[in-house]
Amino acid sequence: MKLLFVNGVNLNMTGLREKGVYGTQTLEEINAEISEYFKGDTCEFYQSNIEGEICTAIQNARGKFDGIILNAGAFTHYSYAIRDAIASVEVPVVEVHISNVHAREEFRKNSVISEVCKGVICGFGKNGYILAGESFKL
Ligand code: DQA
Repeated sequence: MKLLFVNGVNLNMTGLREKGVYGTQTLEEINAEISEYFKGDTCEFYQSNIEGEICTAIQNARGKFDGIILNAGAFTHYSYAIRDAIASVEVPVVEVHISNVHAREEFRKNSVISEVCKGVICGFGKNGYILAGESFKL
């Protein structure tokens, strides 16, 4: 199975920012654990703080990956461009959030991408990425 893990804006600060919310491990450390968990599969990792680059990563996954695991960060709440990019590819996308966005500020409760995603996983910390990856094997 070929899995693409995409992290959006500010996720490069994981382990450094709001540690009580996002944990103490860096994104590199989390990605290393994901790689180890999915060692029988092919995993690629991409992070960008730039909305259009996330769109390009999703577009480029066409025909190359079985699934995309996407934590779009704050883009989740307002990026119609990322929503359209997801809708434009056949590759299924699972939306992930480290935190339980429904237990936080009002603006985090709305996702403009959920409707075009296969499913949504939030509130399980870094394990959400693994749960999302596993979902493609069911
Ligand atoms: C997040 C939740 C978003 O609301 C926030 O803007 C993030 C991270 C999460 O993983 O919990 O940057 O996507």
